[in-house]
Parts: sequence; C-alpha cells; structure tokens
Amino acid sequence: MNETVAALLTRDKGVLAADESFPTIAKRFEALGIEATEESRRAYREMLFTTVGMGEFISGVILFDETLRQRTQDGVPMAEVLSKQGIIPGIKVDMGAKALAAFAGEKITMGLDGLRERLAEYRELGARFTKWRAVIAVDEHLPTRACIEANAGALAMFAALSQEADLVPIVEPEVLMNGKHTIARCEEVTTLTLKAVCGALFEQRVVLEQMLLKTGMVLSGAECPEQADAEIAANATLRCLRRTVPAAVPGVVFLSGGQSDESATQKLNAICRGSDTPWKVTFSFGRALQAPAMNAWKGSPDNVIGAQKALHHRARCNSAAIRGKYSAEMEKTGLPLLEREHV
Ligand code: 13P
Repeated sequence: MNETVAALLTRDKGVLAADESFPTIAKRFEALGIEATEESRRAYREMLFTTVGMGEFISGVILFDETLRQRTQDGVPMAEVLSKQGIIPGIKVDMGAKALAAFAGEKITMGLDGLRERLAEYRELGARFTKWRAVIAVDEHLPTRACIEANAGALAMFAALSQEADLVPIVEPEVLMNGKHTIARCEEVTTLTLKAVCGALFEQRVVLEQMLLKTGMVLSGAECPEQADAEIAANATLRCLRRTVPAAVPGVVFLSGGQSDESATQKLNAICRGSDTPWKVTFSFGRALQAPAMNAWKGSPDNVIGAQKALHHRARCNSAAIRGKYSAEMEKTGLPLLEREHV
C-alpha cells in the first residue's frame, strides 16, 4: 500500500477517473449519439488507455467492474495495458448512491454487503487501489446531519475493508455543486462533511497514511448568480482542507464535479500555485479529463487519434496545473502528433 500511495502521488502526475457506471456512461454517450453497449464501452476505454505518452501525466486510472474484466481488441487485459504504461489500475467498488429512506433529496452509497469478497477478487484481477463515492446534496435545508454521518460511516467501513485487502482506498465524499448556494455555504458543508468523514476514519481505525482523500473544490453552486473566481475558490478550498484533513493523509485528489475542463484546470492551478500544504495535491478528474476526448471520438475508430490527442492535451494541462504552471496559453499551443502504436 505504501508503494501504491507513493506511485499514485508521483510528482507531476494525477489520476484519471474512468469508472462511470452503466447509467452514467450511457448518459454521456447518449448526449453524443453513441449507443452504449458492452463493445462501445470497451472500445472507448481502450482508446483512452492506449493513448501514447499518457503515463507521463497519469499515475493511476479508476476502472469500473466491467472494464477490469475486459480486454483490448488484441486480447490484452485492460489492467495490463495500463501497467505497461506505468499506470496503476484501480477500481470503483461502491454500488452507487440510492435514496436515503426518510430523508427526501438525500442519498446513501450502497455496496458494503459482500465487499470483502469482491475486494479479494479485484486484487486478483490486478487492481491496487479502490474508490467509494458518497454524494452530499446542498440546498437551504440540506444536508442533514444524519445523511453526512451515514455516508461518513460507510466510507470509513469501505476504507477499513480495502486496507484489510491490501488495496489503497480513495475516500470520496463529494459535495455536489448543483444548486444556487454561495461559495460560503459550499465551504461550510464541505467542512462539516470532511470533519465527519475524518472522524469516522479514525473511529474505524483506518490508517490515514495508506489512503487518499478525494474531494470537490470549494466553489459557488452551479446556479448561484455570483460565481467566485479561481483565486477565491482556491483560498476557500485550502482553508477548508487545512481545517479538516489531518497531515497524516498523504494526498488530496480533486474531482472535477461538472466544471468545464478549462475551469477545473484553472482552479487546480490556483490551488497548487505557491501553496504549502501538509498533503500532496493532485487531480482525479473524470469529466474534465475525458470530455474533449469523448466529444472527438464519437464512437468511431476513425477518430481514435484525435480523441487521444485531446486526452493527452488535458492530462498535460492538468499536470502543469499541479505545478502551478498552467496558463490559458497552453490551450492554444499545438501538440506534437501522437504516433499510433501498441503499448
Ligand atoms: P468528475 O471529475 O467527473 O467529477 O468525476 C470524478 C469521479 O471519480 C466521481 O466519482
């Protein structure tokens, strides 16, 4: 686990989240007119993972159960394709967020039943780290203490089971950005959530040194009329994390949460620029890394190289951001053509 943590936090690299569940990937494909089938999901993920040079910027990829069992067209298991690029395969192990009984509008993440057995199998299949995502909705009255506590407890039990199976847990409590709330409200809810999660991790004897925390940035709600800029968001994010995340946690990785790809990179840059933090900070984006690549791919083998260039570009920009060296100029500079080769 120590080696996996160190490798995931390798300087200048971050994590690609490619663990969309069946309904989520279907929604993203549908928006582009791509039919979601076992084969289209396989082809899409093969396109992502065979991007030449991705290992320069990406240390780990979070897979979905189906993908960990799939192979490339040439018959190579997906986990092996990643390992050959020097990328560590990980796996989403939760079974999704379902309605929390008696708490309208709130969700509890499922998946603890049978988890010990599934974890043992995932390790056999080549996974070295795991992820569990809890979602916390924000409005005038939400979240409730009960929702935060229930999700924090499940996250901590997941993390303890994962460490028992020698898999590094990525503990992800996501405070959703949907809503009209202000950045101050987001900071308040994120602070309460992270305090509860870190308390539960302690209670469940999770070894903080052998896990990563995945969180959203502190941002204005997506429908808030006043949108805080990158500087304000970075200050609020760092203040919130410093107040809640123990220094023993080796790394904090950010989700993108529905921000546009350039905006997520810009904010990550503001967070990392000149900030002195007790934990390493990097990205673990899903949409903000994949969106341009999926748009370029559109389900056609003819578009593979263009899509891979788009992924490579976003990975490169986010790698620059964690060094505080990203600028809008980077979006304009042309990239060297990638050779299509087997990796
Ligand atoms: P986004 O970056 O698209 O929010 O996805 C990250 C993730 O892993 C959500 O669980």
